[in-house]
Amino acid sequence: MGLNCALDGPSGAGKSTIAKTLAQRLGYVYVDTGALYRSIGLYAVRNGAAADSAEAVVPLLKDISVELKYIDGAQRVILNGEDVSDQIRTPEISMAASNVSAIPAVREFLLGLQRDIAAKNDIIMDGRDIGTVILPNADVKVFMTASAEERARRRYDELVAKGQTVVYEDILKDINLRDYNDSHRETAPLKKAADAVEIDTTNMSVDEVVDKIETLIDAAKRKTFKVIPFYRRAFYAVLRFIVAIPFYIAFNIKYEGTENLPKSGSVILAGNHQTWFDPILIAIRVKYISSFMAKAELFDIPVLNLAIKLVHGFPTRRSATDVSSLSRAESYIKKGYNLTIFPEGTRSKDGKIGRARSGVAFIASKCGVPVYPVGISFKRHLHFRSKITVRFGKPLSPEELKITSMSKTELREAGERIMSTIAGLLEDNGY
Ligand code: DC
Repeated sequence: MGLNCALDGPSGAGKSTIAKTLAQRLGYVYVDTGALYRSIGLYAVRNGAAADSAEAVVPLLKDISVELKYIDGAQRVILNGEDVSDQIRTPEISMAASNVSAIPAVREFLLGLQRDIAAKNDIIMDGRDIGTVILPNADVKVFMTASAEERARRRYDELVAKGQTVVYEDILKDINLRDYNDSHRETAPLKKAADAVEIDTTNMSVDEVVDKIETLIDAAKRKTFKVIPFYRRAFYAVLRFIVAIPFYIAFNIKYEGTENLPKSGSVILAGNHQTWFDPILIAIRVKYISSFMAKAELFDIPVLNLAIKLVHGFPTRRSATDVSSLSRAESYIKKGYNLTIFPEGTRSKDGKIGRARSGVAFIASKCGVPVYPVGISFKRHLHFRSKITVRFGKPLSPEELKITSMSKTELREAGERIMSTIAGLLEDNGY
């Protein structure tokens, strides 16, 4: 499962800036497919092959392996084991990429890689033929344009800011030539998919474009995941308000990193766990309804049983991997609920961070949803007006958690990554 957003358009329309910002905001994986064509272009140039000649380029493909890796959320392109992410950004390689991208065998060669990554993750994929050829069933399709002059101006400003000496007219000529190449080639030419939403960014700011696409993604998500009925959301909003009051009175609660709060439901919130009211501290600030796991024994007490179920708590047994609670978690996420989870599985007695159990990484990967880390800090022995800091961190996408096989080792390592991110959000760590 994964929500796919295809972002197509001509060179310099601002796709990569928009896609990167959006992916970071939503905790999605950003896939820059142009980088794949660029790496083939680079290989052709390095081997003295004419990039516009299929006879010269096609025989090279058998010697090429291209991979995408994500380091700190940024995409890196690996060509035959070498990270070429920086070498592919020159004007010479831009033109070589445009040329090799017209060769059908090259497009075929890169197709599987692009589809695989889209199948496993929530992605924003930018390119020329994503909505038409690579992901014809993408949940959201956007075709971004801007006038050639505006695109040349943006590129000019960008290069000047990097300290390069460039001539505006040369850039404009280059853009017009690449536009012509990209839209007149026979295979997968640049064109708007019939069901794509066209956004002309000439007079729009980055934030305006990002907001617009986010609205489209939200709408699509509501179609993929079910919508929580209105009466439930209204009830939850009232409950959240009522519960928040005594907590704000009793403690001096500070919320930080609120720019990282989830912008929708169907995500995982993972925190460190010290008190029974940790889920409440998180719920007060996150407006989307969350389900959460609670110790099975609590459900034996009739009043608690009712109260916990009312706020979408469900039982989990600590002794072994509780398969039924994992599938409950999955079904809640698919219904549009968040899942608040404490990966350590039990409360920390001394405030120190423990090891994660495998459940959190398993659910994130199975549902293809991001994990939002939350660090809850307070001095030991809470009393009236104690300071409690709840800090939200940047989401970790399933891709960043590097889970591909669901092996025990992978799940354990992903759990460790989540816990160390949470630890970094705690006050003692001097954030
Ligand atoms: O987006 P970019 O400028 O990095 O792309 C480099 C070239 O690759 C561009 O001229 C067109 C081509 N390309 C393509 O044909 N299909 C894609 N999905 C992405 C890029």
